[in-house]
Amino acid sequence: MGLGLLREGVNEVIATTFGNAAPMGIIVRDSEARMVVFRQTHTAGRIEEYGWVVANILFDPVLYVRTAFEDLPPSSFVDITVAGIPMQHLAGAEGYVAFRASVERRTTERLMVRLEPLKEELITSEVHPVNRGFSSVIEATVHATRYLIFRDPELRVWINHHAAIVRKCGGPRELEALQLLLTYIGE
Ligand SMILES: Cc1cc2nc3c(=O)[nH]c(=O)nc-3n(C[C@H](O)[C@H](O)[C@H](O)COP(=O)(O)O)c2cc1C
Repeated sequence: MGLGLLREGVNEVIATTFGNAAPMGIIVRDSEARMVVFRQTHTAGRIEEYGWVVANILFDPVLYVRTAFEDLPPSSFVDITVAGIPMQHLAGAEGYVAFRASVERRTTERLMVRLEPLKEELITSEVHPVNRGFSSVIEATVHATRYLIFRDPELRVWINHHAAIVRKCGGPRELEALQLLLTYIGE
């Protein structure tokens, strides 16, 4: 099957693995899908143990921030069976692609994971007008996950830059997501 719901380039989805969810980039090049996952994440451990990943497509900025920094309760996951394999997608996903995941290569820090699409489902067909506040929540969250590890002041400057765009362009959900993010990084 094709990758109809994803597109060429990097798709910033919320990846579910067994009992876990985290924002992850799914890289699609020449119709082939891969992930590069830091080995210290739960996602990497679950991929090695269970061999599947579901890419959830949704546009709730609060969920991107929450899943980047904390665990979700079991009620956030919906059980599905794909090709005989028990998997989970996120409640609230507008669509998802379920993949078989196999580790192609390992370094000390990362796993290179090959993804084979097994099933995709479009659950809703809402449209999402482009909002810079939403995009900046995603950017700020990427920087914040790194900032928590390295405490690099340059990352803090980028977070401030994106926080200003969220305040200018975001709606209530983006503002809530920003507040949560700032709490996580200790402000
Ligand atoms: C938009 C976005 C994309 C991300 N992409 C990746 C990625 O491709 N690989 C990775 O290892 N971490 C990525 N991260 C960081 C993880 O989400 C973060 O380390 C998270 O805490 C891992 O959660 P887990 O331990 O539950 O797997 C990304 C974060 C964001 C906000």
